[in-house]
Amino acid sequence: MAFQTEIVKWYLNNKRDLPWRGTNDAYVIWLSEIILQQTRVEQGLPYFNRFLESYPTITAFAAATETQILKLWQGLGYYSRGRNMLYTAKQIQELYDGKFPTSYSELIKLKGIGDYTAAAISSFSSNEMKPVLDGNVFRVLARYFGIETPINSTSGKKQFIELAQSLILGQEPSVYNQAIMEFGALQCKPKSPSCATCPIQSDCFARKNDLVNVLPVKEKKLKKRTRYFNYLVCVNGDEILVNKRNPGDIWQELYDFPLIETDDNYLEAQEQFLTMLKNNFGNTCTVTPLEQKKHLLTHQTIYVQFFALDNYIINFNQNAEIKWVSLSELDELPQPKVITNFISSYSVN
Ligand code: ADE
Repeated sequence: MAFQTEIVKWYLNNKRDLPWRGTNDAYVIWLSEIILQQTRVEQGLPYFNRFLESYPTITAFAAATETQILKLWQGLGYYSRGRNMLYTAKQIQELYDGKFPTSYSELIKLKGIGDYTAAAISSFSSNEMKPVLDGNVFRVLARYFGIETPINSTSGKKQFIELAQSLILGQEPSVYNQAIMEFGALQCKPKSPSCATCPIQSDCFARKNDLVNVLPVKEKKLKKRTRYFNYLVCVNGDEILVNKRNPGDIWQELYDFPLIETDDNYLEAQEQFLTMLKNNFGNTCTVTPLEQKKHLLTHQTIYVQFFALDNYIINFNQNAEIKWVSLSELDELPQPKVITNFISSYSVN
């Protein structure tokens, strides 16, 4: 049996009896979907019932005050959702004369209705051939079809949408969409899915390849590293002290200035900064803060602070890495952009 047929068959035998499933009223479906974006089914149920009791139609909802809606929404959190609902209801009352739209293309124009909600409402209310893609669906598809592309990457989203669109063809969209979401919520759960009792386990890629706990893959949004670079500008006549950067860090082989890197900005990390400064440039040295720049790289944010250094004694060997060069020689050396920019503003002044 095809994947879709199995899913629908499983659904008809295992579905929960939920009040929004027995209707094709787009308003009622909208109410349930917005509430279910905010909370789980068990917690959402009493909210859904109270909303529907107080406002049985979109026209009644649109006539409510913001305070009344927020009072009913109380406890769900993220109150702008509640406020957006009122805005949308008023919009529908005015633009559509209180008739809730049922087509994807009209729904997607409304405030607070994105891809998922437009697909859910249009398929459940008017059987439009739009596949829903929520966390449950991503998980079921990734596991069964063995898709390792991250679900939150651009190429992953495209791949999942194409697969979902091909699967829904020939199905009754309202039933199939409910079915695959319910299958993800009850059977193919995120943690400890019930593989042993699963009707499609023998064809499930993840099950066969021991990848159930690996799929779906989600791309971790890289946390940016924050760094504080304190550059010391030592000038002697027309010469300036430069530093050739080591391999193993950003800007390797490029030339910058002697650098004291601290864990925080130099004012916050004063002790660390002064100790490193005196160790390398003697007790008598003085610093004058010059300009400050924030430099953004893909994975790092660098706060760059330049200092003019005076009365220094160089307490380290000048070597291939650190040496004096004339400003015109420096011009010939490869430099990171922050240094080039500093030199050009410095030369002008
Ligand atoms: N979660 C989001 N939409 C749902 C629906 N229609 N039924 C059950 N759970 C859901």
